[in-house]
Amino acid sequence: MAKVVFRNSGKVIEDNTQIKEILSEYGIVYDVWGVDRLSEDLRKDYELSEEKQKEIIKAYEKELKELKEKMGYITEDIVVLWEKTPNLEGLEAKFKREHHHTDDEVRFVIDGSGVFPVNIGDDIMDIYVEAGELIVVPAGARHWFELDENKKIKCIRVFKTPAGWEAIYEKDEKATWG
Ligand SMILES: [Fe+2]
Repeated sequence: MAKVVFRNSGKVIEDNTQIKEILSEYGIVYDVWGVDRLSEDLRKDYELSEEKQKEIIKAYEKELKELKEKMGYITEDIVVLWEKTPNLEGLEAKFKREHHHTDDEVRFVIDGSGVFPVNIGDDIMDIYVEAGELIVVPAGARHWFELDENKKIKCIRVFKTPAGWEAIYEKDEKATWG
């Protein structure tokens, strides 16, 4: 289950309905699609054969279609971070730096978990997400991404154009996962 923790105020929200409401105040979409429809193999396999990726995306066809129509996204893919990801530590260090994107950052978690800290000005909101949950961090929102102690996450990513979700740190620096 998701959890939202405000770093300065210490406020913690664990109720899904409340999480949805509070995040929406910041333009962040949170939803639960679940992973019951996926076989354990599709959830737990991080090797990502093209066939399995297609199967996963097909399983969420209805939700993805609705989301794409509503938000103007055009395509999706699957991305993983796990022990066999080359240079995982280097990537993690990069993702932990605050940035924003010119398009929304859309992640549906298939397996694993992670944290999206969002800078809301007078506080940092840590949004913990896990399998079955969708998060949309809106374009322009300053945020970063952290793996938790599980050190792995597998997500469907949805986007308008690949260029839109390149991370903008400062000046010309870019990274392309989170
Ligand atoms: Fe990002």
